[in-house]
Amino acid sequence: MLELIELHKSYNTSAGPLEVLKKVSLRVERGRSVSIVGPSGCGKSTLLNLIGALDRPDSGKVLLGGQNLTELDERALAAFRNRRIGFVFQLHHLLPQCTVLENVLLPTLAGGKAKESAISLQQRAMQILEKVGLADRAGELPGRLSGGQRQRAAVARALINRPQLLLADEPTGSLDEETAGSVIGLLADLNRRQKITLVVVTHSSALAARMDQMYELKKGMLSERGG
Ligand SMILES: Nc1ncnc2c1ncn2[C@@H]1O[C@H](COP(=O)(O)OP(=O)(O)OP(=O)(O)O)[C@@H](O)[C@H]1O
Ligand SMILES: [Mg+2]
Repeated sequence: MLELIELHKSYNTSAGPLEVLKKVSLRVERGRSVSIVGPSGCGKSTLLNLIGALDRPDSGKVLLGGQNLTELDERALAAFRNRRIGFVFQLHHLLPQCTVLENVLLPTLAGGKAKESAISLQQRAMQILEKVGLADRAGELPGRLSGGQRQRAAVARALINRPQLLLADEPTGSLDEETAGSVIGLLADLNRRQKITLVVVTHSSALAARMDQMYELKKGMLSERGG
């Protein structure tokens, strides 16, 4: 289960402190999916970064599977993040000089997974690429893929360490309707079949509607929306 308890986050800006998250609380049962919608600049990416332990709240707690992430030191946090959490960023952040397969394998390079052989990792990466429909493009560089294919490669990379939580920030932001539909279908399928908890930030009402629950972030607080 993912639990956020009264998260607060402000940034120092040239115009003084900016309170982005005021009191954000949320519970997501394991294997459930939620979408977070809200206008540009309201703090969605900020919130996702806190959930994924890429940044720390000023106060409040993030609990994942009973572990309080706000209590971990940097090293432990990095290891936890790498093992348990998958990220799909809007701009996918694939390394242009690495092939699709190498990109998918990147998260396995960082600590903790040394026990698994390179061959078995590679097999797992290929299985995942098959699942996202990119097995035949595994040896290609990202620059030679379409936008939707890159987005699917980013999903594959987020899955390689078998996360219990998948975070996606505007995963269909730059895609046409049909391609967006296939990425949405892929996320929903992973959530349902593999019981991966899914938190998706999106401007797409089609994507938001596919999740179990829909929340709106407004004035630094989350509220559930009937959908
Ligand atoms: N590192 C930072 N330092 C200062 N201000 C920041 C920083 N990161 C974000 N902000 C500000 O915090 C607010 C929330 O930003 P955030 O990126 O979370 O918004 P968002 O909801 O994801 O917007 P979008 O839909 O455009 O992606 C914005 O006003 C932004 O300018
Ligand atoms: Mg954002």
